[in-house]
Amino acid sequence: MCGIVGYIGKRDVAPLLLEGLQRLEYRGYDSAGIVITGKAAAGKPGALKMVKAKGRVRELEAKVPKRFAGTTGIAHTRWATHGAPSDENAHPHMDAENKVAVVHNGIIDNASELRAKLTADGVVFLSETDTEVLVHLIARAQAETLEEKVREALRHVEGTYGVAVLHADFNDRIVVARNGSPVVLGIGEKEMFVASDVAALVAHTRQVVTLDDGEMATLKADDFRTYTTEGSTTTATPTTVEWEAESYDMGGHDTYMHKEISEQADAVDRVLRGRIDDRFSTVHLGGLNLDAREARGVRRIKILGCGTSYHAGQIGAQLIEELARIPADAEPASEFRYRNPVVDPDTLYVAVSQSGETYDVLAAVQELKRKGARVLGVVNVVGSAIAREADGGTYVHAGPEVCVVSTKCFTNTVVAFALLALHLGRIRDLSVADGKRIIDGLRRLPEQISEILANEDEIKRLAAEYADAKSMMFIGRVRGYPVAREASLKLKEVSYIHAEAYPASELKHGPLALIEPAMPTVAIVPDDDLLEKNRAAMEEIKARSGRILAVAHQVQEKADHTIVVPKNENELDPILMGIPLQLFAYHTALAMGRDIDKPRNLAKSVTVE
Ligand code: M6R
Repeated sequence: MCGIVGYIGKRDVAPLLLEGLQRLEYRGYDSAGIVITGKAAAGKPGALKMVKAKGRVRELEAKVPKRFAGTTGIAHTRWATHGAPSDENAHPHMDAENKVAVVHNGIIDNASELRAKLTADGVVFLSETDTEVLVHLIARAQAETLEEKVREALRHVEGTYGVAVLHADFNDRIVVARNGSPVVLGIGEKEMFVASDVAALVAHTRQVVTLDDGEMATLKADDFRTYTTEGSTTTATPTTVEWEAESYDMGGHDTYMHKEISEQADAVDRVLRGRIDDRFSTVHLGGLNLDAREARGVRRIKILGCGTSYHAGQIGAQLIEELARIPADAEPASEFRYRNPVVDPDTLYVAVSQSGETYDVLAAVQELKRKGARVLGVVNVVGSAIAREADGGTYVHAGPEVCVVSTKCFTNTVVAFALLALHLGRIRDLSVADGKRIIDGLRRLPEQISEILANEDEIKRLAAEYADAKSMMFIGRVRGYPVAREASLKLKEVSYIHAEAYPASELKHGPLALIEPAMPTVAIVPDDDLLEKNRAAMEEIKARSGRILAVAHQVQEKADHTIVVPKNENELDPILMGIPLQLFAYHTALAMGRDIDKPRNLAKSVTVE
């Protein structure tokens, strides 16, 4: 998804911005650009200098001329929405006089209408983007100051934006604004940064201010101030980013995906740390803002998320039903928000998101809040929009996840749900003994994850064995079904092999027709009360000459191959069973020469409609 980075200070700005853009590459993009304020000469303001390129940041870097000096600038990575990826459509965009430059994340919904009006007034557009209307609106604004010009322009605009604006006549500042698309200020010593993601600035400062929707800011080299789009001053106290700049590095791995899969034992240790209360066999989740009496009043739990986070929410719903006996289910937030949902005051809504910025989830949360619902967030990125919008919640503490394909965040999110389920269960009817049993199981997870990861060579060998498949089936029952769905998503995202996920119980209701030697099945077979049922499903597949790779707690005779994973408590088994299949997807994609960290057509956080 698009990325913004900006700097004002004393340092040479172009290398800083290019480095910032490289740190945003993981979000997915198809073109990039940079604009800087050139040095002022003999009483004249410094002209804006711009370079743009379709393709990667390295292609932009190659186009930047040697003499490109300046100490203020903004830059962008674009993910095409309005208009194809091209040099012209890449951001920044400038007006005809080259005075105003804008980079923009988000979508301007009334862009066509504004474009028609501006064209009728004689404005010539140079790109097909929605963003360019904003440039011309700012350039034509009658207001005196840059802040007022931007404010005047934004008044005409409907839609979402994170914007940064440079103006040649106001070259001591960058003006930024946010509505539905993240903007983070980085506060340095006599220098200021702005970005759409802390990843772009954490190497330079860990002091940040996250803008709220409807907020703007003016950045000068030694000062910043924040205010609303209506003009009233707001208070912004910088907070410290908890993640080190090094957490964003590859750390000796060839890909972020491999690094992030490998980090899972530590990540799970982190989400458990300081939360277990052995005395009462429960856990403390400080930020829930839900006291015991309120928690007892909850009659239903509805979990909302997208993609992998939705799958983690499905496992979460099962954990909540099993441990707390509260009816719970998960639904894609992208569907929920469009079906005019009945919002029930006794239902607790839980929004799940790694990035905390996914627009569909955020919009669902905003709709729920508008209707008076209580919403908790289960989020990885501290201070992100969903975390801020929710009434309370818990962070999953997975650390930065850079690969577009989510792995460690899935695992940590499911563990966070296990903690929530245990907490709610112990407030209700879960016994001390069962609470202790789950806690002991949670404590075993990091070591068991390391055991699974130590089996990587064998999983790699198996990936090679199945890499010829054009299509794969993933099956599981009850606890195994969301694991199958997530594993199928992992495989298709990163290897582009078509994959289907079905409840094993549904096989004979249709998908069995697909089974033949060229369509292998991955079966999730936990050692629980459904073991025999799962074995029967494998039998049905074998009878149709289907190949089977089982993920199980013991070798499965019906399967051609079995990846054996350590057994935990039945309720916690899904946390472990997905991990070998992350490695399976990774090695399949690697063998096929795929772009592992940036699969085609995908973005790390989907902050637009
Ligand atoms: O940041 P979020 O968890 O809200 O993102 C939701 C999905 O876009 C995300 O999980 C997506 O499905 C990933 N590509 C999965 O690997």
